[in-house]
Amino acid sequence: MSSPQLPDITAGPAWKALAAHRTEIDPDLRSWFAADPRRAEDLTVEAGDLVADLSKNLITAETVGLLLDLAREAGVERRRDAMFAGEHINVTEDRAVLHTALRRPRDVEPRLTVDGQDVDADVHEVLAKVYDFADRVRSGEWTGVTGRPIETVVNIGIGGSDLGPVMVYEALKPLAQPGLTARFISNIDPTDAAETVADLDPETTLFIVASKTFGTLETLTNARVCRSWLLDGLREAGALVGEAEETAVAKHFVAVSTALDKVADFGIDPENAFGFWNWVGGRYSVDSAIGTSLAVVLGPDAFEEFLAGFHTMDEHFRAAPAKRNLPLLMGLLNVWYVNFFDAGSHAVLPYDQHLHRFPAYLQQLTMESNGKSVRWDGSQVTTQTGEIFWGEPGTNGQHAFYQLIHQGTRLIPADFIAFANPVHPTRDGETDVHEVFLANFFAQTKALAFGKTAEEVRAEGTEESVVPARVFSGDRPTTSLIAPALTPAVLGQLIALYEHVTFVQGTIWGIDSFDQWGVELGKQLAQEILPAVAGDREVLGDQDASTRGLISYYLEHRRR
Ligand code: F6P
Repeated sequence: MSSPQLPDITAGPAWKALAAHRTEIDPDLRSWFAADPRRAEDLTVEAGDLVADLSKNLITAETVGLLLDLAREAGVERRRDAMFAGEHINVTEDRAVLHTALRRPRDVEPRLTVDGQDVDADVHEVLAKVYDFADRVRSGEWTGVTGRPIETVVNIGIGGSDLGPVMVYEALKPLAQPGLTARFISNIDPTDAAETVADLDPETTLFIVASKTFGTLETLTNARVCRSWLLDGLREAGALVGEAEETAVAKHFVAVSTALDKVADFGIDPENAFGFWNWVGGRYSVDSAIGTSLAVVLGPDAFEEFLAGFHTMDEHFRAAPAKRNLPLLMGLLNVWYVNFFDAGSHAVLPYDQHLHRFPAYLQQLTMESNGKSVRWDGSQVTTQTGEIFWGEPGTNGQHAFYQLIHQGTRLIPADFIAFANPVHPTRDGETDVHEVFLANFFAQTKALAFGKTAEEVRAEGTEESVVPARVFSGDRPTTSLIAPALTPAVLGQLIALYEHVTFVQGTIWGIDSFDQWGVELGKQLAQEILPAVAGDREVLGDQDASTRGLISYYLEHRRR
């Protein structure tokens, strides 16, 4: 589908005004805070259960106004509404982008019909099927082929069919039903499957093969490897007699996919398959049937609460006024740093061990979405796009890479995320350990914003030659996100927040944030190269000198 030619946003008045503003302001958070006692209050925004303090960013009221002008000029609101309405804003694949429909409440009016499909009815039909299945596994009604209840659910998937489920499972693990755990296999490195199932009992293991396309090499290979492991294990235990293979696979394998015909070809009973639709992008799919492992292990109630959290943020993004619209503001801030401060990366630093996979999840969400050089009209982008997202939980990161954020030569905007209440309240004598933890969270953004001057260093009696090394420049921008606790609802809100932040950035840059053509070439070449790796001299000879040399090294050193 062709789309009208996009104007160059960097040639428009809003961009030019921002560029001029950037040369005029000399960020100085110390004096900005001193001059404006209301700064923190004015720049704190609430969205659902999340409170976001944006005041430690390198912005003034004028910056915010100019960024909002930019959003208006880029038509962010118009495109947002088009997305929610199911217009085909994924132009390179000519698809609607409707992950927001996955979390609409059952009876919301008016109903959403897109391309002739009653989206609400379909979403809730699948959810009901997933919940029914989850209840049966949880209650022990659904058993393995030998009649034993399921104890371990293994999700086999990769990318969006893995990162969401594993991140959410790790985040909400304390809610898992006692006696039921989840594991995840994603990598085609055979180590992943081998080590994940090594200590499992095939009789009590259920595999969920999660793949939107059901054509992904890694997932299908791992699914076959696990099917062999299952059947071999059952056979060894004497639990597989006669022609019971099919029954065993049916009891131990279910699938999640948009391609239900391919599920049947794999040998999984379509009765035990949960569908979704091509208008759900892989990295936007954790709240679809791709979350079946979560519904089983954490329970349908937790999953419902999780979906409600997403919806809360969707409604905020859709209805909150621009000045108080958190995804809009955070997306614009990211553009501000990437395009006007030359920031090449963005740190996400959760102060919650349960969010240890959140940065990895965000890497796919943001970088697969906005790592593009071409706009949705096919023309080249006109400015930098797609910063690198990265991070680790605090306080671990403090003892690893924070040095560079505090004193390095690069500007790295950072999002700090924390929760008022811990999952495991713990005391160390008189001290509440969560308070020590949070003190670090508060201290880091303070240090980054306000730094430490040479005078302050000297006042501590520091020897003059060491003073420069101990100075902190400050003015290193952060956003602090706080919520009462890491609940399913709050996690849904957080994910939806970043989905919409990604959308806002993509829209400003003119990017189709919903395709991912950039992953295709490598996949295609891997298929072409495979015969050479297996020893085919002719295919080896066709390779460039570097690739040929590397494969030859492998062929010389492999132990057979
Ligand atoms: O590698 C790209 C990608 O298509 C991701 O976007 C997607 O999440 C992942 O592969 C897995 O795809 P599938 O769910 O179809 O197996």
